Amino acid sequence: MYPMLKHAHSGLRWVVLLLLIVAIANALMKWRSGKTYTDGDRKITLFTMIGAHVQLILGLILYFISPAVKFNEYTMSDKVLRFYSVEHLTIMILAIALITIGYSQAKKKVEAAQKFRATFIYYLIGLLLILAGIPWPFRFPGAGWF
Ligand code: HEM
Repeated sequence: MYPMLKHAHSGLRWVVLLLLIVAIANALMKWRSGKTYTDGDRKITLFTMIGAHVQLILGLILYFISPAVKFNEYTMSDKVLRFYSVEHLTIMILAIALITIGYSQAKKKVEAAQKFRATFIYYLIGLLLILAGIPWPFRFPGAGWF
């Protein structure tokens, strides 16, 4: 089960990144051009948030079964152990919380421009955090691309 979950979690990153880019670009373009907010716009932001939440669930399960997560006297001095046990979890939970807040803020606002603005800002910060929190193979030898 562990290898399967790890592959699913690793591959799903691309789906989440793509959804975030589409949601952010869509929000920016429509905000700038003063377009109305449609059900399609809401669905893009919703699917993006769902993708991030699925990643959160897979990540939480992995957190309890992964050999990369360990707490001992070396955790904080070992770059890889510290990353998976502390940093990855913290950065990603923060990013997913911001995406969730962005979704609910956009839902609450009445004017289309405010909805697009909330999506753009929160999702963009979420994307930047996620990009910084991913164990890219060039930072962590042994981490995969997919
Ligand atoms: C959008 C959010 C997230 C993304 C894009 C993401 C992405 C990734 C990627 C690409 C890997 C490397 C997989 C590999 O080595 O092939 C990974 C590993 C891991 N992630 Fe996440 N992650 C996210 C959120 C989370 C969260 C919230 C948690 C914990 C609660 C978590 C826990 C883990 C663990 C424990 C590993 C290590 C797996 C292992 O090598 O044994 N992830 N993540």
